[in-house]
Order: sequence, then C-alpha cells, then structure tokens
Amino acid sequence: MHEVLTERRDEEVDLGELVERLRAMIVQGLAGEKRVDSRVESIELHGARATALALVFSELLQNALEHGGDEVHVELVRRNGAVSLTVADNGTWEPGDEGTGLSIVRALVRDELNGELSLSGEAGLTAEVTFQP
Ligand SMILES: Nc1ncnc2c1ncn2[C@@H]1O[C@H](COP(=O)(O)OP(=O)(O)OP(=O)(O)O)[C@@H](O)[C@H]1O
Ligand SMILES: [Mg+2]
Repeated sequence: MHEVLTERRDEEVDLGELVERLRAMIVQGLAGEKRVDSRVESIELHGARATALALVFSELLQNALEHGGDEVHVELVRRNGAVSLTVADNGTWEPGDEGTGLSIVRALVRDELNGELSLSGEAGLTAEVTFQP
C-alpha cells in the first residue's frame, strides 16, 4: 500500500492503473470466494488527489468485501468531464450508522476531491464518488 500511494506523489498519476493495483491487492487479502470485476479508464490526476481517491476506493472496496454481497463491481470512468468511481455489490444494505471508514470517505471526498458521495441501491450498496479532475 505504501509503495502504491507514495511513489509518484508530485506527478500526474494514472488513476485507472492505481485502482487496478489496489483492487488486486485488496482482493487478494479479503475476497475469498467473492467475485470482483472492474472496468477502469485511464485517467490522469495529480498525485495528492490521486492519493485521496486511492484511500476512498480502498475503504469502499473493503466495505463491499466485508459487509456486502458476493458480487462486487468496480467502475472508474469519465462522464461529461467529471470522474466517476463506483463500487457496487449485490448484498443487503440499509442506510444507518456510519463508522470510521465511511466518515473518512466523506471527509476525503468533500475536502480533498471537492466531490460528492452518493450511497444508494435497492439490493446491496452502490457507492459512487464524482468529482472534477
Ligand atoms: N457494502 C456494504 N454492504 C452492506 N453494509 C455496508 C456496506 N458498507 C458499509 N455497510 C454498513 O455500514 C456500516 C458502516 O461502515 P464503515 O465503513 O463506516 O464502518 P465499518 O466498516 O463497520 O468499520 P471501519 O471503520 O473499520 O470501516 C458497516 O458497519 C456496515 O454495517
Ligand atoms: Mg468500513
């Protein structure tokens, strides 16, 4: 994790590559029999903000694997100039008490990315972060 986050702090970072590397790392540790598929585009972002997004992604993916269903979908795309990161699973989720993980996600999305977080979903949680790159 340390290497992934710090090696290119002052440069533009390819977010797609970063998300794929983190996904592989987290899935190896936590996924078990769960299926995680991903679709990521190549998106350049400055190092410090890429670090914030990496932390957000890691929290959301860990939540999906720990609390969510057995199928997890990761998507990183550009839409109308904005960046959208989605982590969705097919488990059971109800809006309720938020712990440390989600409060860190909220703070990073708001303060570091100037973005928005939406938590929704009829079956399972769809967490989407959108921000201007
Ligand atoms: N993908 C998900 N599916 C179902 N429930 C979820 C999901 N993500 C979060 N939750 C629920 O929201 C709660 C709060 O999540 P949060 O990440 O803030 O805390 P946590 O995962 O319990 O602990 P930590 O602070 O270590 O992350 C979880 O305990 C869980 O009940
Ligand atoms: Mg958590």
